[in-house]
Amino acid sequence: MYTQSLSIPDGDAKGPRKVENPEYLAEFNAKIDAGGFIEAKDWMPEAYRKTLVRQISQHAHSEIVGMLPEGNWITRAPSLKRKAILLAKVQDEGGHGLYLYAAAETLGVSRDELTEALLSGKAKYSSIFNYPTLNWADIGVIGWLVDGAAIMNQIPLCKCSYGPYARAMVRVCKEESFHQRQGYDLLLQMMKGTEEQREMVQDAVDRWWFPSIMMFGPHDKDSVHTDSARWGIKRISNDDLRQKFVDATVKQAEVLGVSLPDPELKWNEARGHYDFGVIDWDEFWNVVGGHGQCNVDRLAARNKAWDDGAWVREAAIAHAEKMAERERQAA
Ligand SMILES: [Fe+2]
Ligand SMILES: [Fe+2]
Repeated sequence: MYTQSLSIPDGDAKGPRKVENPEYLAEFNAKIDAGGFIEAKDWMPEAYRKTLVRQISQHAHSEIVGMLPEGNWITRAPSLKRKAILLAKVQDEGGHGLYLYAAAETLGVSRDELTEALLSGKAKYSSIFNYPTLNWADIGVIGWLVDGAAIMNQIPLCKCSYGPYARAMVRVCKEESFHQRQGYDLLLQMMKGTEEQREMVQDAVDRWWFPSIMMFGPHDKDSVHTDSARWGIKRISNDDLRQKFVDATVKQAEVLGVSLPDPELKWNEARGHYDFGVIDWDEFWNVVGGHGQCNVDRLAARNKAWDDGAWVREAAIAHAEKMAERERQAA
């Protein structure tokens, strides 16, 4: 690991961090090239900082909004065991959002700014959470495919160049692994059940397969955030991650006994990978643009939660003020 620290002064939002100095930039680049971590107080180019704020906050929003499609099923889980598992998973996602908002805050943005961007609809979050959960098997398929795709995306982030983000991802990935397994386990159990249960699983797989592989984002040739690779934030490209996910998932589908809804999906001996059909990017951009089946509901639910929680925030502030006043009087 690269241990030499930058000889430049600590940055803050108004201080040296904002100065574009060729010497600072050379040191920053050297650290990135050596595979080192950039820490919150290190100098960084403004574009690097902005890219991270955008990526980490979108990630945080995705975790928080991602609680909604599954939270919807907690009261309808078919057994106590499944209810306890689902509760734990949805709570984990809330925790992931909190680690990530905290990581974003180290870059000089406030939690309030980030929340406001989400609630006003200005900020983006993963398009996958704008699809509805229609039957109980959707909960299993989300764990298997959606959390599975998230793991593929997030494992390389444990080694990304920004220290606070990388460290947050280590714990997130461990929890995502539990999410993926509980989903697969739920589906295995349903597949051993009745014909109706097997049909529910197949129906859920048919609806979630393509949205899941869209989660890796546009094809590399159409992707605009190329600096991310140069800076060591995104170490594996969208298309390579998607291919890894497809290759891993086809075998899991066989074990499960479901078919994936893509007639063009087949092993390509020459490439050593599975080929797959054309992704409907119009659908993807439509959902990203706010016109998916659930975009309006998701934002309404987040806004309602924020408004309903106003009294908690007010009480916390009043409590903090009271404690500070007591300390002043004691002194
Ligand atoms: Fe998560
Ligand atoms: Fe998860």
